[in-house]
Amino acid sequence: MLRSKLYQPLLLRLFHGINALLIIGAAITGFLVYDSWDGRFGGLSLTKTNRSLIDIHGTFGFFISYIALPLFLIYCWKAGKNRLLQADTLQQLGNVGRPIWWYTLQRIANTFMLIAALFSVISGKFQDENWLPQGELNHVAYYIHLIAWVVVILALSIHLLMSAKVGGLPLLISMFDTIYRPEDSPRFWQEKLNNILHRNK
Ligand code: HEM
Ligand code: HEM
Repeated sequence: MLRSKLYQPLLLRLFHGINALLIIGAAITGFLVYDSWDGRFGGLSLTKTNRSLIDIHGTFGFFISYIALPLFLIYCWKAGKNRLLQADTLQQLGNVGRPIWWYTLQRIANTFMLIAALFSVISGKFQDENWLPQGELNHVAYYIHLIAWVVVILALSIHLLMSAKVGGLPLLISMFDTIYRPEDSPRFWQEKLNNILHRNK
């Protein structure tokens, strides 16, 4: 039974899940920061000038940029390459409507998701936590970080829609499943990590 189900490597689920959680958390707290201090492009006015929102958002940003995203990027580069852009991506785009065409679009969406996350993280590094409290809303870096938010929301929507299109709900759920096969046990991680690190040399 288990074998016939969609199965994602445990390490992928772990890294992917942590990134999904933190990036969605950063997007929500980022919006709340904007909503609290700025709101020039519309908003919900849920809170006003709430300083701790900036700290909470900075904490999400910190964990993404120094721990979660770097680990996931290494995983994707070493072990998850076949789900990202391929050397023949442009060629495959010619097969409009065929299954390979959809898989190619999904791989583009996965790659775009990573680029969007990187964009938001890098632009986040150029923020100053004192700008908004001091009423400085016109820094170029701030606008770039706001654009990064839009790009993340766009990328996430495309990523989810493409995954749903290619694999439906079972694929989406498989990414957050907590059951793992014996051979995928953390006991073998050390061995696997060595294999992964030496595979592409
Ligand atoms: C997906 C969306 C977002 C992500 C992934 C993200 C990520 C980050 C990162 C990585 C940092 C640097 C944190 C650090 O190194 O300490 C940061 C800082 C910051 N971001 Fe965002 N951000 C997002 C959206 C937003 C939005 C919409 C705003 C709206 C105002 C915003 C406002 C800020 C501010 C004020 C800082 C400085 C906070 C500090 O230095 O403690 N972010 N963000
Ligand atoms: C609730 C949110 C999310 C869901 C439900 C979701 C779902 C999925 C699914 C079903 C796949 C497998 C696609 C395939 O078979 O090719 C996947 C892969 C992937 N996702 Fe997400 N995702 C979410 C959020 C994110 C976020 C925030 C990121 C940004 C870092 C991300 C980056 C990726 C990447 C890079 C892959 C390919 C992994 C590989 O190389 O093996 N996802 N996601």
